[in-house]
Amino acid sequence: MMKISSNYYYYYYYYYYYYYYFAILLILPSDAQLSSTFYDSTCPDALSTIRTSIRQAVTNEQRMAASLVRLHFHDCFVQGCDASILLDDTTGERVALQNNNSVRGFEVVEAAKQAVESICPGVVSCADVLAVAARDATVAVGGSSWTVNLGRRDSPAAATRALAESDLPRFTDPLPTLISNFENKNLSERDLVALSGSHTIGQARCVTFRDRIYGNESIDPDFAIKRRRNCPESGGNDNLAPLDEVTPNVFDNNYFRNLQSLRGLLESDQVLLSDEPTRSIVLEYIDNPDRFDSDFGAAMIKMGDIEPLTGGSGLIRSTCGSTLLENRLSIYLSYHTL
Ligand code: HEM
Repeated sequence: MMKISSNYYYYYYYYYYYYYYFAILLILPSDAQLSSTFYDSTCPDALSTIRTSIRQAVTNEQRMAASLVRLHFHDCFVQGCDASILLDDTTGERVALQNNNSVRGFEVVEAAKQAVESICPGVVSCADVLAVAARDATVAVGGSSWTVNLGRRDSPAAATRALAESDLPRFTDPLPTLISNFENKNLSERDLVALSGSHTIGQARCVTFRDRIYGNESIDPDFAIKRRRNCPESGGNDNLAPLDEVTPNVFDNNYFRNLQSLRGLLESDQVLLSDEPTRSIVLEYIDNPDRFDSDFGAAMIKMGDIEPLTGGSGLIRSTCGSTLLENRLSIYLSYHTL
């Protein structure tokens, strides 16, 4: 009988593996739409698992709700909602001016992701965990809910520091710059005002509002004096103040009332009232909190749609903070299949 050489099996498996690998890549649509039912059959308990984890984290520290919403925003605006900001990279987007010593909540997202990994390993992306976490965090502090679209995949690498610095807005930006910055991400002036409304929760460091409380003219003088107490003209850069001093841990429409009484903390907050087209939207949200709630949810869905990786692009990281495991796995696979 003819003896089949071991080389035969070697080539057979080699072609078999690559044939199916590329066939799957071709079948998967690269511009697949996100969908709220994406994990219904592959990980039906994913959403309830994330919710339990996020609720607990917000109970432990109320500010965490704000930090998670912001983390999702800073993820989506830089290279799309791909969890790139979660990668523990000391030279990329994490050290951009707008992020460094400022964005937080990484360990909370990682804990939620690991809770999901323990029930369905390798299925749910970090980008989706973060999008769901932002929604659950908002609800945990009194905000209205929205339906999160799912099916994002994770980036293999962090974005650059330069990209983050150009794509994320700055607290010194004038109104036209803020508007065009959001427009670049397909977000309208209404989205800009609604999303800025998340400054109804959370804190800011003295370094981000110092110039406003010492020099700006469109500020309530009593408010400026009050804020100066914990934010000296020099030093104390990291001293915190609430973005909404009335109800700092409740997701309501007080942020817009503050703007009307010239008590917005950041320059980029107060400018929304300074001119049209945003001024009338701010006034509308003061009179109609329900409209703010529904616009906020709709804008979060739009923001969550920014350039997602879907289908065969990107990967599902097993750890949100690093790609070490995936890299090891691909080295192992290439060694054992080639
Ligand atoms: C319009 C342009 C925006 C600018 C210039 C801006 C700027 C800032 C700054 C400077 C801080 C304080 C950071 C610090 O001191 O470390 C902050 C905090 C925050 N931002 Fe914004 N932001 C903007 C839009 C948004 C959007 C669109 C969202 C969410 C959808 C958001 C959510 C938050 C939250 C929740 C906090 C508090 C975070 C915490 O307490 O950890 N911001 N923002």
